[in-house]
Amino acid sequence: MTAQTHDLDPVRQERFAERMVEVLNDSCLGYLCSLGHRTRLFDVLSGLPPATSERIAEAAGLDERYVREWLGGMTVGGFVEYAPDDGTYWLPPEHAASLVRAAGPDNMASFLQDLALLGIVEDQVLEAFHKGGGVPYSSYPRFQDLQAEETARVYDAALVESIVPVAPGLPERLREGIDALDVGTGQGHAVILLAEAFPASRFRGVDMSETGIAAARDEAARRGLANVRFDVADSAELTGSYDLITAFDVIHDLARPARTLSAIADALRDDGVFLMGDIAASSKLEENLDHPLGPTLYTFSVFYCMTVSLGEGGAGLGTVWGRQTALRMLAEAGFGDVDVRQVEGDILNVYYVARPGH
Ligand SMILES: C[S@@+](CC[C@H](N)C(=O)[O-])C[C@H]1O[C@@H](n2cnc3c(N)ncnc32)[C@H](O)[C@@H]1O
Repeated sequence: MTAQTHDLDPVRQERFAERMVEVLNDSCLGYLCSLGHRTRLFDVLSGLPPATSERIAEAAGLDERYVREWLGGMTVGGFVEYAPDDGTYWLPPEHAASLVRAAGPDNMASFLQDLALLGIVEDQVLEAFHKGGGVPYSSYPRFQDLQAEETARVYDAALVESIVPVAPGLPERLREGIDALDVGTGQGHAVILLAEAFPASRFRGVDMSETGIAAARDEAARRGLANVRFDVADSAELTGSYDLITAFDVIHDLARPARTLSAIADALRDDGVFLMGDIAASSKLEENLDHPLGPTLYTFSVFYCMTVSLGEGGAGLGTVWGRQTALRMLAEAGFGDVDVRQVEGDILNVYYVARPGH
C-alpha cells in the first residue's frame, strides 16, 4: 500500500462516493426534465388533478408506455407524487413553479434541454482536449432555437421594465427616439421587444448566424415592426453610429472580444451608452466557490462558450471570464465610465453600463 492509501480518510471517501451517486442520479433527472419540458408533460401535469398514466398520456397526446416510464423516474426523483392504491400521479404546485412554461424565467426545466445539445459535441470537445482548437458553431444544431427560448423568457419578463432602466436616463431617451444596435442578437427577440416598446427609436440587430437573423426577420415581420432591421454581420466589424449599443450574453463567446469592444466604443456617439449583459461571476476561481450556478457555468464554458471561440482561433475567454476581466477589457477599449448593476431575481447576469471617455 502507498503512503497515500494509509492517509485516506474513510469518512471523507464514503461521503464523496455518496455524492457521486447523487451526481449520477441528478444528471439523469436532467435528461428526464428536458423531455418533460419538450413533451409539455410538466405543463399538462400541472393542470391535472391526481391522474393515471393513461389519463396523463391522453391529455398530453403521448404514448402511455413512455409516459409511465418517465413518471417512474420523476416519482423516484422526487418531482412527482405517486399514490400506489389507485395508480395516480400528481405534480405539486411548489414543484410546478420551477418546471412549467407559465413560470417564465423560473422554469428551470427549459435549461436542461441544453444537456442533450452539449452531449452531441462531446467527441469533438474530447478531441480538442488532446489537440487544442475547438468546435464550430455548425456542430450545435439546435443552439439558436434553445438560446432564443431561454433568453426570451428573461427578456419578456424583465428587459423593458428592469434591465433597460439600469442605465440612468435610457428609458427616456428611447422614448424620445434614438439609434440602437444589438450585437450578437441571435434570433433578435430582445431588440424586437425594445422596438415594440419604444416605437420612436430605430433598432438594428447583427449576428453572424444566418439562421438566427432569418428567425429575427420573421418575428419582426410577424409583429409588423418597421423600426427594426437585422443583418448578418461580424461584431468585430461594425458599421454606422449609435446612441445605444447592447450585447446580451455575447462578448465572452466571441473569437475577437477585444476588437469587438473597440468597435463598439468607436461606433458609439459621444453621449452614447453600451449596455453589456454578461455572466455574473468573478474572474478568480476562488471567489466562485459559492456561486449558485458555478458548476453549470464551467460546464457550459467547456462544452460551448470557450470552445466555439477557440474553434475560430479566438481568445477563448470562457463563460466565467468574470467581472474583473470584463472591467479591464472595457477600460482598454476606451470605456472610462462603467457601472456594474444587477437586476433583482437574476442570478445569472450582471449589466455593465459603459460610456466612452473618462
Ligand atoms: C449566447 S448567444 C446570445 C444571443 C442573444 N444575444 C441572446 O441573448 O439570446 C451569442 C450570439 O453571438 C453570436 N456571435 C458569435 N460570434 C459572433 C460574431 N463574431 N459576430 C456576430 N455575432 C456573433 C452567435 O451567433 C450567437 O447568436
